[in-house]
Amino acid sequence: MKDRAVNRARLRDSIETLGRVGLDDSGFRTRLALDDGDKAGRDLLVSWLEASGLEVKVDSIGNIFGILPGDEPGDPVMLGSHIDTVRHAGKFDGCVGVLGGLEVLRTVAERGISHRRSLAVAAFTNEEGARFAPDMMGSLVLAEEVSVEDMYSHVDDDGVSVGEELERIGYRGSDRVRPSAYLEIHVEQGPYLDMKGVPLGVVDGVQGIAWWQGRYVGQANHAGTTPMGMRNDSLLAVSHLHVKMTELAESMGGCATIGRISVDPHIINVIPGETGFTLDLRHPDREKFASMKEEAEGTMDELAERFGLEVRYSREADVAPVSFDEELVSMIQSVADERGLSSTHLWSGAGHDAQIMSHIVPSAMIFVPSIGGKSHCPQEDSDFDQIADGVDVLLECAVRLANR
Ligand code: GLV
Ligand code: MN
Ligand code: MN
Ligand code: MN
Repeated sequence: MKDRAVNRARLRDSIETLGRVGLDDSGFRTRLALDDGDKAGRDLLVSWLEASGLEVKVDSIGNIFGILPGDEPGDPVMLGSHIDTVRHAGKFDGCVGVLGGLEVLRTVAERGISHRRSLAVAAFTNEEGARFAPDMMGSLVLAEEVSVEDMYSHVDDDGVSVGEELERIGYRGSDRVRPSAYLEIHVEQGPYLDMKGVPLGVVDGVQGIAWWQGRYVGQANHAGTTPMGMRNDSLLAVSHLHVKMTELAESMGGCATIGRISVDPHIINVIPGETGFTLDLRHPDREKFASMKEEAEGTMDELAERFGLEVRYSREADVAPVSFDEELVSMIQSVADERGLSSTHLWSGAGHDAQIMSHIVPSAMIFVPSIGGKSHCPQEDSDFDQIADGVDVLLECAVRLANR
């Protein structure tokens, strides 16, 4: 069954065009949430939504929606993801979901494919959490799991707040849009599909994610005169934490990453007086995820005690593992089968807005392979034909959901 298909050239062109927004002089792509690059990406997206004849809405946290009204009133079937990026990102993470969703709506509109329910494409604010914690901020606000007023007060490293930045870039809206169901297509961002040579992933769920921001405080002192046994070296605690969390993740089958440290005073011959760090822990199993979190906090405390330091830490994000809606998962599987597209089931290692939307409405995800399993780096790559095959599956599922 190949009757419904999107415009492959237009899909590719929109991914390439948005991919050129936010490039620096060295050719690296960065659109941190609500920065100038993100604003330029948003403006481009809104211009495409308008040119496609969609009704454009922006909510209080700056989530952008393009809506194609159905024959009947009611909440739309929503297709979405994000266009904010990490530093030095690829062009696929998130953008495939937003532009794939847009391509579905464009195709439905121009072919006059009938749909009882409305269809919507969504670009969620600050999915990445690379500038402001927590990640998935826009979907968390939409799902009413955090308050928008609280999110407005979150600041970046320079003390600039989400609320100020939304005002500055002109994306603090007042619309409200709630889906009836949610589908997200995304690049896998890991090696599984590419290694297996399978073009489509049917995602069963997303592993839990917890983030901490912490700081060990010891005593800066002379590197040559302070005996090894008389130091309060704050970096030593973070070094041990890194090794212990790596071993914990390896033994439990999860993931642990210390992605940032800041050493103070950061001088070659001074024992680090203060060291800030972040910790990202993930696990697909609820109970193991809970025990990893407990063990992490216990270890942070123990290391402070052992090295004569003070420690402060706070959990900046904490999202439980989720399994997607069984009916939607099997719909994706059947549509792939009907289209003769081979597929396999997998869990997502990365966090996604679908994880949050699944708390409020039936949700599911489609993955396409990431070449070499690379993501969150400039080498991120995917095949445009495989992306388009996945978006064709998205189109069929969206139309079925909108008519059931
Ligand atoms: C976001 O992309 C994450 O999974 O950290
Ligand atoms: Mn993403
Ligand atoms: Mn990402
Ligand atoms: Mn993500």
